Amino acid sequence: ISRAFSHGPQRPSRPSFGIAFDIDGVILLGNSPVGGSPGALRKLYGADGGLRIPYVFLTNGGGFPEAKRAFELSQLLGVNVSPSQVLQGHSPFKQLVKRFENDLVVAVGKGEPAAVMTEYGFKHVLSIDEYASCFENIDPLAPYKKWTTNLAATENSKFNESFPRNDVLSKRVQAAFVVSDPVDWSRDIQVLCDILKTGGLPGRNVGPQPHIYFANDDLEYQTKFPSERLGMGAFRIALESIFNRIHPHCLEYTCFGKPHPSVFKNAEIVLQKLVASLYEDFYDKNHKTSSFKTLYMIGDNPAVDIRGARQTGHPWFSILTRTGVFKGKENHDKFSADLVVDTVEEAVDYILAKEC
Ligand code: G3P
Ligand code: MG
Repeated sequence: ISRAFSHGPQRPSRPSFGIAFDIDGVILLGNSPVGGSPGALRKLYGADGGLRIPYVFLTNGGGFPEAKRAFELSQLLGVNVSPSQVLQGHSPFKQLVKRFENDLVVAVGKGEPAAVMTEYGFKHVLSIDEYASCFENIDPLAPYKKWTTNLAATENSKFNESFPRNDVLSKRVQAAFVVSDPVDWSRDIQVLCDILKTGGLPGRNVGPQPHIYFANDDLEYQTKFPSERLGMGAFRIALESIFNRIHPHCLEYTCFGKPHPSVFKNAEIVLQKLVASLYEDFYDKNHKTSSFKTLYMIGDNPAVDIRGARQTGHPWFSILTRTGVFKGKENHDKFSADLVVDTVEEAVDYILAKEC
């Protein structure tokens, strides 16, 4: 993050507000900008390209390390996004490193779920693709899935060196992490059930259920298709209902992500650190802890983005856009926002007019 202003004589007033942008349905549809998002974000930077208004991306999405996602967002939106500004559904998994640092864990979802977890500090992570490839015939439908590459068949696949097949077969999986939206539901539900109902050792019926963590519980979300797509919450419902039919005890799991207030409180801390890093030269140290007058959450999903801002309360102000899950004319009846706009650009214009 470059300094907010050049060191001119005029000291800038430290902003008393910050912004949290949801991504899917507000900034992007798939990987295409929506609602004038590049122009809206550019208004948060000074003429020198330095960031002037503190903002973060607060998304339930994920699948790539924060640095890689920040680079991708910078390319797509034409602004300079730093990794510290990218808060993803799985970002809080960092808190679980101490507990599972040296255990074998399995990471599920699109993108690079094992790379995400390894970067957080987990030392023995296998993606579910890698894990499943250690078990012959674990997925009876695999021969009909032309699109999957059979990792076991690839002689030099990197994980063979660090995780010889026999080690995997004899090591108990201590936890499963659903990092991002699962790609192959039939295979993932099958393999996760094998892990969860055998205490982490498929093929042997021993041991307590390993815990499973979900990066979010979104039932649906908005991407390029005109109507909403099934999200990780839908996958969780499918896995849970099947597991509960084939196992004597109900599935034990933990969901992270919006609308949990802890996610919004963490975003406030990250925004405070961002302001401190932008204005550190201009203020003495005690300014660092000054709180925000207003934090704006700009989202498209009333049950996730608006509900979370409302549950968290002051200083959050919720703005609902019509470019994603919500497409109504008025406000949402159950989770009504403080303001409803058509696009994220309208939301940013409202904020700048009100605050600057
Ligand atoms: O997979 C992403 C989806 O669940 C929601 O993402 O950015 O709208 O919180 P977002
Ligand atoms: Mg969204």
